[in-house]
Amino acid sequence: MKILLFGKGGQVGWELQRSLTPLGEIIALDFDSVGLCGNFADLAGLAATVRQVAPDVIVNAAAHTAVDKAESEPELAHILNALAPGVLAVEAQKLGAWLVHYSTDYVFDGSGSAPWRETDKPSPLSVYGRTKLEGEIEVAKCERHLIFRTSWVYAAHGSNFAKTILRLARERDRLTVIDDQIGAPTGAELLADITALALRTVRNSPDLAGLYHLTASGETSWHGYARHVIEYARMNEKGGASNIRVALDAVLPIPTSAYPLPAPRPLNSRLDTSRIRNIFGIVLPDWRQGVDRMLKEYLEAN
Ligand SMILES: NC(=O)c1ccc[n+]([C@@H]2O[C@H](COP(=O)([O-])OP(=O)(O)OC[C@H]3O[C@@H](n4cnc5c(N)ncnc54)[C@H](OP(=O)(O)O)[C@@H]3O)[C@@H](O)[C@H]2O)c1
Repeated sequence: MKILLFGKGGQVGWELQRSLTPLGEIIALDFDSVGLCGNFADLAGLAATVRQVAPDVIVNAAAHTAVDKAESEPELAHILNALAPGVLAVEAQKLGAWLVHYSTDYVFDGSGSAPWRETDKPSPLSVYGRTKLEGEIEVAKCERHLIFRTSWVYAAHGSNFAKTILRLARERDRLTVIDDQIGAPTGAELLADITALALRTVRNSPDLAGLYHLTASGETSWHGYARHVIEYARMNEKGGASNIRVALDAVLPIPTSAYPLPAPRPLNSRLDTSRIRNIFGIVLPDWRQGVDRMLKEYLEAN
């Protein structure tokens, strides 16, 4: 199997370089790759790359993911999140290749408290959410597509919410964290592992093409997530001799309205994952499992 991977340096792309290795030959590109074009702003270059490589599978982990910045550069977000995946879909369809793509809970407006299902009507609040939804529609034009909608992605590689909270917890006596956005922190590692497993399963089953919600199990708020990270560090750092300064009861919940940002966020980011669990026969671990693993590695290394 020849796999063409875009966005190799991102959180998910980095993990995919590992998880896809047993499936075959991987040609992994980033926006500044030399020789082949991995730049999503260069639509003609992307099409030429796919034709030249002629892969069996395209995995797209590249995107305009700067949610707030997208509000002031909607054209660029539209190109990277919608038009470029559309080019990949056209080229993949011509080749009869699979196209794997990632999308987001931000396609929903966050109303209610029930987990969103794949059949629910999207209604994005932000430029990022709108352009990601447009990308889904483009990608679905390729018959053999897999779209994984996920949420609150973190990775050991690079910066993430948990690492930021740890830094602040060492510097400050008091922290305020949003407690009315609910979702499931999901590891890039988990997304990459499930992608590899799904690709192996669908190879000879084109009827499994489609849209799947894919997150870790359970739910929390950013406030709950932050408290978990701080509690874990207190218990596990340097055999208990933690240098966390903030007390747990000084990690205070605030509403989204108290922390205005350019892009509105959905309050209810719960995604119902029963479809992917039933069809692929997988178990999705509780969100704390992956977060604890990432924290353990990070604390040991630092
Ligand atoms: N992060 C989340 O919380 C989250 C939640 C739900 C869904 N998702 C989706 O999951 C997927 C993977 O996200 P992620 O968290 O891995 O994001 P990420 O770490 O921001 O990675 C995105 C990748 O796209 C690259 N990129 C940016 N501009 C590009 C361009 N013009 N051409 C080619 N590549 C470009 C980035 O390169 P540079 O780093 O060099 O800019 C980076 O390697 C995306 O589709 C995202 O929408 C993410």
